[in-house]
Amino acid sequence: MLGIVLLSCVAVVAGGRSPHADYIEELIKNNAFGVRVSDNIIEDATLDLPDLVRKYNYPFEEHFVTTEDGYILGVHRIPHGRSSDNTPGERPVVFLMHGLLSSSAEHIISGPGNGLAYLLADEGYDVWLGNARGNYYSRRHLSLDPDAPFNADFWQFSFDEIGNRDLPAMIDYVLMHTGRSALHYIGYSQGTTTFFIMCSLRPQYNDKIISMHALAPVAYMAHNKNPLFLALAPFSKDIASIASLIGIGEFLPNREIYTWAGQALCMDGMILQPICSSILFLVGGWNEAQHNATMLPVVFGHIPAGASVMQFAHFGQSIVDKDFRRYDFGTLQNLLRYGTAIPPKYDLSNVVAPVFFHYSVSDPLAEVEDVYRLYEELGRPMAKIRVPDSKFSHLDFLWGIDAKELVYDGLINLLRIMG
Ligand SMILES: *[C@@H]1O[C@H](CO)[C@@H](O)[C@H](O)[C@H]1NC(C)=O
Repeated sequence: MLGIVLLSCVAVVAGGRSPHADYIEELIKNNAFGVRVSDNIIEDATLDLPDLVRKYNYPFEEHFVTTEDGYILGVHRIPHGRSSDNTPGERPVVFLMHGLLSSSAEHIISGPGNGLAYLLADEGYDVWLGNARGNYYSRRHLSLDPDAPFNADFWQFSFDEIGNRDLPAMIDYVLMHTGRSALHYIGYSQGTTTFFIMCSLRPQYNDKIISMHALAPVAYMAHNKNPLFLALAPFSKDIASIASLIGIGEFLPNREIYTWAGQALCMDGMILQPICSSILFLVGGWNEAQHNATMLPVVFGHIPAGASVMQFAHFGQSIVDKDFRRYDFGTLQNLLRYGTAIPPKYDLSNVVAPVFFHYSVSDPLAEVEDVYRLYEELGRPMAKIRVPDSKFSHLDFLWGIDAKELVYDGLINLLRIMG
């Protein structure tokens, strides 16, 4: 367990605006959501995360953790609930890790009473939220510049590095800061992928996990049927190498994604609302029954939060290879890095922390066959819990109207049982 550099400090965070505040204001002005957006929602959509949490009278801390390869990650904390006194030492620690293109905001934006981070804080947990390298809160490095022109060095990472370097650094920091020896881990989507990578490549981290809860578990993608992914997957390696060659490493930086989406889809008064609302949900699976249109401006105020081209390429490789392997850099680079022409498989039998699955039969990004295969190969799978709603989709694990009743209540019971 050598050499994880832990530089730390707690920042006093100044009031700020959400990642897409300007854009959201413009959308609302153009009536893009098709409904009257209340002042309260406008505020939630445009406030930066620290102020959003404080608006609802919860404590919020931002910490900074430096990885062994120099990335500076913003780690967020809601140390206790609204009504409780601050006794952090007494509270079990829960660490939440977000999905692709997302951030710590994903468990917060649905608000108190709905968002998992708030629910856990109210239930007596010390809640920590990670942010992967490259997202809005972790877009810094000791020497590399994410915005350097014609230079993508900052962006040379996939979810392999997030699991192998970011998670260990953040978990060690949280344990050191709280004086604990182990914590509960809740991952969503890519936040489960990165957990399995961490425990596979660095098995000593299993001992630091009391229990792991995988919401919409993703590792194998052999059965993925998303037409967009299937069309692009075979080219993913080429796209990544070409992008890197010409110095592009970030997957559609925020301003570009919104300029593109805005001009293409959202700004035209004729087709505004339905299409604009569904950009995000096209990929994640649309489920009308769980969809809360009221909170869409808040979602779009905070997400997407950034990712590298290589993260997408790595998922593309998983679709094409029908396997769960380290990043494929091409034969020569693979030989240099891994000593084999084909990237090694992640050894899932190394994952011996107790793992609980929370999955749905209609999640287009975590098909049941792939979920079961993953479960069978883990070292210590505890239970796989199917969401009792046959239409429950990928994004519903975060923002579904009944996520609390269908998923979180049961999950919190398991946390209690596991200590
Ligand atoms: C829908 O979202 C709004 C805004 O976040 C929230 O106040 C409301 O409780 C949500 N509705 C349901 C049914 O969850």
